[in-house]
Amino acid sequence: MRIDIISAVPELLESPLNHSILKRAKEKKLIEIQVHSLRDYAINKHGQIDDTQYGGGAGMVLMCEPLSKIIEELKSQREYDEVIYMTPDGVQYKQDMANNLSLKNNLLIICGHYKGIDQRIRDLYVTLEISIGDYVLSGGELAAAIMVDSICRLIPGVLNDETSALTDSFQDHLLAPPLYTRPVSFKNLKVPEILLSGHFAKIEEWRFEQSLERTKTRRPDLIKKLPK
Ligand code: ADE
Repeated sequence: MRIDIISAVPELLESPLNHSILKRAKEKKLIEIQVHSLRDYAINKHGQIDDTQYGGGAGMVLMCEPLSKIIEELKSQREYDEVIYMTPDGVQYKQDMANNLSLKNNLLIICGHYKGIDQRIRDLYVTLEISIGDYVLSGGELAAAIMVDSICRLIPGVLNDETSALTDSFQDHLLAPPLYTRPVSFKNLKVPEILLSGHFAKIEEWRFEQSLERTKTRRPDLIKKLPK
């Protein structure tokens, strides 16, 4: 999979995309991620990429010309399955969307900054608008990093233990069960006996019950999505 990201502040993406699992996925050539600086497409030698809003109001808006130029340049190089704009007024991002996007070949992600981007860029190029939650970030970069991380870990071969992503919270509309590792006893708290029993079927049953219980108390809204 190839992911291109357009950003006014590419530095914000450096660390999240270059460590841990994403770093390994890139090294294994399972994913390719290119971050493009919108500044390189500025309309003048002062590096201008934003301007004040028509109609008045606080906050700068990323201009049409730099965005259009870079989007068209990238689109001339490959066909994108989706052109995604990260925005708090987009559809709410969920695991199902991560699953779907992980099956695509080429994604182009546009990060807004300041107040947002000119509506005409959304009208002309964007095929999917995504919000990571009901709160406003200073830009789409951190939202994009979250989305890219959640997508990439689903690509076969990215995680060492392939079953690991399948047992994540939300994969089956259930939260994940509690986890334990050594030691067996810590500050007088013991690992549940069943996990030490070696009885695989019983362990699976216990984990499912724990998942169900956790979901019922913490996220009752998810229970409604469970297959009957
Ligand atoms: N940009 C600013 N806030 C955002 C959010 N909640 N989701 C996606 N992009 C954003």
